[in-house]
Amino acid sequence: MRLEGKVAIVTGAGGAGVGGLGVVYARALASEGAAVVVSDIDGEAAVRTAESIASTGAQAIGVRCDVTSDEDIKAMVKTSGDAFGGVDILVNNAGLARGKWSEALILSADEWMEILAVNTVAPIMCAKACAESMRGRGGGVIVNQSSNGALIDAGAYTVSKLALNGVTKVLADEFSSDNIRVNGIAPGVMTAKLPEDQVQRLLARQTIRRPGQPEDLVGLLLYLCSDDSSFMNGQTVVIDGGMARITK
Ligand SMILES: NC(=O)c1ccc[n+]([C@@H]2O[C@H](COP(=O)([O-])OP(=O)(O)OC[C@H]3O[C@@H](n4cnc5c(N)ncnc54)[C@H](O)[C@@H]3O)[C@@H](O)[C@H]2O)c1
Repeated sequence: MRLEGKVAIVTGAGGAGVGGLGVVYARALASEGAAVVVSDIDGEAAVRTAESIASTGAQAIGVRCDVTSDEDIKAMVKTSGDAFGGVDILVNNAGLARGKWSEALILSADEWMEILAVNTVAPIMCAKACAESMRGRGGGVIVNQSSNGALIDAGAYTVSKLALNGVTKVLADEFSSDNIRVNGIAPGVMTAKLPEDQVQRLLARQTIRRPGQPEDLVGLLLYLCSDDSSFMNGQTVVIDGGMARITK
């Protein structure tokens, strides 16, 4: 129960998408004792996830939040305050990935702005919105969900996540006097729902030749969210079965 008494917000944790990493993160934080605000652009999915966590006896509430909307972000932080008294941990997990987002030149300017808005700028806005409450509670932790795709060419997605790694460094500096630490997780591809031939191609590029599971990320998440990592700031840790040691 390393996070007993803490309040955590996880964005993009409805579980309506393909990877469902936010759901696993929200469950893990709750299982360590945190009260969790499960947020997602799909409000019904967020509420469903929160209800399933609450059914285990943990504290959780679901809220609809489009992370590109300042109003939604404000409302999400207010919900956290009203329900649980504030916020100590923010996990910026919401993101656009795969499909056209792995392309570059075929994307329009509007599409580029869309992926940068969700993957790169929204984490800054959510951090800003949570910072006041964190300061009032003596500090906090922010975890940005990056990707090993920041290091391996995947079009606009790579640009957005590489820039997010920069955001992690900059925010760590900006919040340095507030006792708010900012670090990142850069997972490899979680292959559970991919076609078998794609899985085999990916495994051939890893040194650890088994499919990655969302649960492989939980130890790192809890480390970054707890005082165990109290001397760590501004870092993005790659956890991908050894794939990104080859940068192409
Ligand atoms: N699954 C993987 O293999 C993998 C690997 C590396 C990094 N990641 C990163 O992990 C994060 C979660 O990915 P996932 O695979 O679990 O995907 P997912 O599609 O299951 O989850 C993403 C969630 O974000 C939500 N979302 C999308 N746009 C939003 C917005 N504007 N506001 C709020 N919520 C929004 C979606 O509704 C969805 O529930 C992403 O940032 C992704 O880039 C995933």
